Amino acid sequence: MTSARNRVEVMHGVNFDVLERRDPEIYGGLSLTELEVRIKHWARELDLEARFFQSNLEGEFVEHLHRLPEIADAAVINAGAWTHYSRAIADALELARVPAVEVHLSDVSSREDWRQVSVFEGLVISRISGKGPDGYRDALKMLAEELA
Ligand code: DQA
Repeated sequence: MTSARNRVEVMHGVNFDVLERRDPEIYGGLSLTELEVRIKHWARELDLEARFFQSNLEGEFVEHLHRLPEIADAAVINAGAWTHYSRAIADALELARVPAVEVHLSDVSSREDWRQVSVFEGLVISRISGKGPDGYRDALKMLAEELA
C-alpha cells in the first residue's frame, strides 16, 4: 500500500456538463471530457492522481465535499456560478480541510460585478482565473508543491 499523498479531486459545478455549448469566446468551446483528459495528463506529469466530479445539484456538490477527507488529499474546484453566492458550498469546503485551489476558465475579474465575489476567499490556497485550461495545470503544480 502506498502512503503517497497524491490524490487530487477535480470538482466542477453547475453548467459544466454542457461546457461545449457555452460561449466559446469566453469558455473556449471545449467539452468537460476534453478538459478532463488534459487535466489527467498534466496530473500524471506531476505524479498526481486526478479524479473527477461534476454536478448541477448544489446538495450533491456539498455531499461530495463532505467525502473529500476520505477520498482525496487535495482539490481543484471550479464551482461555476455557485462560486459567487453559495455559502453552503463554502461551509462544506471549510469542513473538508484539504488544500484546494479555485480555478476559473474565464477572467472573472474583468466580467460582471457579481462575479468579483468568491465565497472561497480565505479557504483556498489560490484563485486562478482567465488562463483557460492552462489554469488547471497551474493549480495542479501548486497542489503538487503543497503535498510534497
Ligand atoms: C466560471 C466563471 C463563473 O463566473 C461562471 O458562472 C461559470 C464559469 C469560469 O470557469 O470561468 O460557470 O467558473
